[in-house]
Formats: sequence, structure tokens, C-alpha cells
Amino acid sequence: MANTRKPIVAGNWKMNGSLALLKTFIEEIGSSEQLETVLCVPSPYLSAAGRGEYILGAQDCSSFESGAHTGDTAVSMLKELGVEYVIVGHSERRQDHNESNELVANKVQTVLNAGLTPILCCGEPLEIREKGTFKEYVLEQLAAVKNVCGVSFLDNTVIAYEPIWAIGTGKTASPEQAQEVHEFIRSNLVSWNEAGQNTRILYGGSVNAGNAEQLFAQKDIDGGLIGGASLKIEDFTVIINTAKQ
Ligand code: 13P
Repeated sequence: MANTRKPIVAGNWKMNGSLALLKTFIEEIGSSEQLETVLCVPSPYLSAAGRGEYILGAQDCSSFESGAHTGDTAVSMLKELGVEYVIVGHSERRQDHNESNELVANKVQTVLNAGLTPILCCGEPLEIREKGTFKEYVLEQLAAVKNVCGVSFLDNTVIAYEPIWAIGTGKTASPEQAQEVHEFIRSNLVSWNEAGQNTRILYGGSVNAGNAEQLFAQKDIDGGLIGGASLKIEDFTVIINTAKQ
């Protein structure tokens, strides 16, 4: 890692995996002083996943604290299960569930209110990348959170830059493309609040055992949010070990 911020390698299983696979991860993934390893499993597995040595993460939560919201999960319930990180605003939720920037911002606030850490996702679709307005697009996503939560959200939030065109496509952003956006995000965060210097910014999108090293070597990349490769224990272990270097 090219900076002093503690790296994070977070696995996002999405709607994949099984209890049998989880058992392997509980047995084989250890904790480390050098980085934070986070495993974000589907919510039905959170209870069983709490037995592992990694840090437990959830993939989403409700923006409400409790009440008549059938099928949703309150952040207080996640906390009871030992969850510390909650992915918020993943592009798949923005797409599948029409989550707006404002709803995402409300979820960030709900997670922060509970004393947990949001992993706030941002990132542009292919047409925005091709149009060249991807920086403005990402900034708008982050500014919506600043407007609702205030700049202090930076003290306790992890940001994940995940260009949608790189998710699950095998088409990773090059280390230079990723660093360009991470640097842009960092300079905006710092212009809002000096605390932005310490905010971890993860890269996500087709990170694998072969490309992690180059990505993690970039100055403003503080680790990864890993989808497909987090379902394979060997690959996930290589990525974790890469982040320790
Ligand atoms: P992939 O690593 O499968 O591209 O997924 C990235 C992602 O969306 C993680 O949240």
C-alpha cells in the first residue's frame, strides 16, 4: 500500500454463496493487524457468519430505524448480529431498486446514527464514462450525502469507487483510470473537510488475484470491494495478502 491509511479488503458476496461455502471462510480467513478484512454476506447468513475472525459486513439496510417496512432490515438488527460495516448505495441496488442519491444519503445517516460504518458506493455507467462526464457524476453522488449528513460523515465512512462498466464484466479500470478518479474524489473530500485525507477509498470492479497488486499500489486506493473473487477462498486470500504488502 502506498499510504498510511489502514487498508480494507471487503468481500461482497452479493446474492451468492451457501452455508457450506461460509463454513470454509469461517475456518480459513483470519484477522490481521495490517489490514481490515470485511465479509459482506447475504443477510440470511449474517447470523452464522458472525463466528468468523473477519469483520462482519451487511450489503444494505433500511433508511428507517424500525416500523412497517416488510422485508427490510433495520440497522439495529444488523448491529445485534455483530455487523460493523454496511454497504450503502451499491450500483445494483440503485438499479434493481431505484435507489436515488437522496435515499442513499438517508441510509448513510441511519448507519452512522447506529455507530456503524457505511461503505458508500459510487461509480458511473458506461455511457457516462464514454461521454467523459464521469467525475461530475461521481461527485454528484457524493455531494448528495454531504448535503444530507454534513461533512462530518467523512470521519466514519468508507467510500468505494465502483465504475459500473467494470463490475462483473472482467473489464477492470486500469490502475491509472482508477487512481485518476480516486485522486479526484480525495481532493474533493479534503476541500470539504481535512478529515477527507484519512477517509479510505476502495476500488471495486473485477478486482482479482492477478490485478490487485497494481491497483492497490496507487496512492489513493486504500483497498478493494471484491465481488466475484470474494467467493473463491484462494483468490480472496491472495487479494488479502496483496493488501498487506
Ligand atoms: P466484481 O468484483 O464481481 O466485479 O464486483 C464488484 C462489486 O460490485 C463489489 O461490490
